[in-house]
Amino acid sequence: AFMLEASEISVLEQRVRETLGIDNCIVVPGNSDTQDWVKQEMGKRCAQLLEGMLHPNYTVAVTGGTTMAALAAAMPPIHTAENVMFVPARGGIGEQVENEANTICAAMAKRARSQYRLLYVPDPIGEESYQTIIEEPSVKEVLSIINRSNVVIHGIGDAMTMAERRRTPAPLVEQIKSGVAVSEAFGYYFDAEGNVVHRVRTVGLQLEDLDKAEHVIAIAGGASKARAIASYFKLGRNNLLVTDEAAANQLIKGY
Ligand code: BG6
Repeated sequence: AFMLEASEISVLEQRVRETLGIDNCIVVPGNSDTQDWVKQEMGKRCAQLLEGMLHPNYTVAVTGGTTMAALAAAMPPIHTAENVMFVPARGGIGEQVENEANTICAAMAKRARSQYRLLYVPDPIGEESYQTIIEEPSVKEVLSIINRSNVVIHGIGDAMTMAERRRTPAPLVEQIKSGVAVSEAFGYYFDAEGNVVHRVRTVGLQLEDLDKAEHVIAIAGGASKARAIASYFKLGRNNLLVTDEAAANQLIKGY
C-alpha cells in the first residue's frame, strides 16, 4: 500500500476520536502487527508529545511491552524541564527483561537526560517475601513517587496475548476464553465495558493514580489490538491514544 495523505490521516484521527469518545488521537501509517517500524513511528510521535508536556519536577511513569521498548529505542534526545524523573509504572509483571518497565524507564531517562528510579520486585515471589519487600523503605519511596506521577505512558495489550506472554492464573485464562477479559494495561485486565476483572499482584501505579496525572498517553497499534483498545478506553480514564492506521481502520469498522 502507498503512504496515506496527511488529509486521510486526519480523517482517520477524527473518526477514531468519535468512535472512542476521546479528545486526542494520533494515527501513524501502517500496521504494527506486521511492520516493526510502525511501533517506532508511534514511539517518535509519543516522544514529541511528551516533550511538550514536561514541566520542572515532573515525574513520568512508563510501562513495559514491545511497543514501549520501540518507543525507548526510537526516541530522539528530547529537551526536558529541570529535575524530571522517570519511574516504572508497576513492579515485575512477567515481562522479559528487554520489555520490562525498568529497562524502558532507564533508556527513556537517558534520552531525556533525566533522572530515573527503578522498582525491584522479583517475579514470581512468595507471599511472605513480597510483603517484606514492599515494606522496605527504598521500595516505599519509589512507590510514593510512582503514585504521584504527572505523566503516564503505557501500552495496551490484547488479554489473550498478554496472558500467554505471562504466567497466568487458571481463573483468568477461563475469563479470557469465555470472552470476559478483553484488554490489559499495566497489569490490569478489563472486560469489554472497561471494568477491571483481574489485576496482576504487584505494586506501583493504581488505576486511581491516572485521575491525578496531568497527562496519560496510551500507545498501541495493530489491527489485532482494536478490540482491546476499545475496551480499555471504556474506562474513561484516558483521553489520548497514539495508534496506527490498521488499528484505526479496525476500530472504526467495529472489529
Ligand atoms: C505491558 C504493559 O508491559 O505491555 C501493558 O504493562 C501493555 O500496559 C503491554 O498491555 C503491551 O505490550 P506490547 O508488546 O503489545 O506493546
